[in-house]
Amino acid sequence: MKIILLGPPGAGKGTQAKFISEEYFIPHISTGDIFRKNISEKTPLGIEAKKYLDEGKLVPDEVTINIMKNRLGMDDCKDGFLLDGFPRTVNQAKALDSYLGSVGQKIDVVLLIDVPKELIFDRMTGRRVCPSCGASYHIKYNPPKIEGKCDVCHSDIVQRKDDTQSTVKSRLDVYDKQTEPLIGYYKNQEVLSIVNGTGGINQVFENVKSNLKDIHK
Ligand code: AP5
Ligand code: MG
Ligand code: ZN
Repeated sequence: MKIILLGPPGAGKGTQAKFISEEYFIPHISTGDIFRKNISEKTPLGIEAKKYLDEGKLVPDEVTINIMKNRLGMDDCKDGFLLDGFPRTVNQAKALDSYLGSVGQKIDVVLLIDVPKELIFDRMTGRRVCPSCGASYHIKYNPPKIEGKCDVCHSDIVQRKDDTQSTVKSRLDVYDKQTEPLIGYYKNQEVLSIVNGTGGINQVFENVKSNLKDIHK
């Protein structure tokens, strides 16, 4: 299955992606995770991307599109994949369509995780992540077993640098202006499927599975 996860920052894309990837045996590909890994390793891509992530702005399309073409060309993507955080502009969506078309593939479904803005602020400012293994938590909704420590690898968990109030605001503005138009784009292609993202984490996953039930491949 070839799935795109769409939704505002903090909607729960990364959280659901982990479950979906395990349930359907497809790789979880997150552009945000790729950028953050490169930033922490101080690669040339990381140094370039850092200034955009710190301000909550989008990394330029040509950089992002090239990374994704490389990633999608890898062996593990042959039978399907789950994209989280890409595409994020109409330009990126068109580039993805034309890349997939060139290898005889297409997207099966675009899951839009629908969450009202009031919930989003709370989800993002309470998020904590593990800098070592990437696991993600929420101080209220998904706390680790031991306060401040990652369940998986016991490292100290931290707040993502772009989860501060002012950066969150700028990321939401960017979403409204540059990413929301993708809803219409995929509606036109008749691949859009809207998931109610307001319940708890497990409830939202039940909603996701029920939306995916009718989609084969
Ligand atoms: P990216 O990493 O993609 O961030 P984002 O889209 O802003 O989304 P988030 O990761 O913040 O939220 P999420 O939807 O994954 O929510 P999560 O599951 O963590 O991008 C970061 C930056 O990279 C961008 O700003 C940009 O600079 C750059 N970038 C990335 N892709 C790009 C692209 N294609 N083009 C250009 N630039 C790009 O959940 C949030 C919190 O809520 C967690 O704490 C979680 O535990 C909690 N939670 C989740 N679900 C629930 C629930 N149902 N109930 C209660 N709490 C919940
Ligand atoms: Mg995420
Ligand atoms: Zn960890």
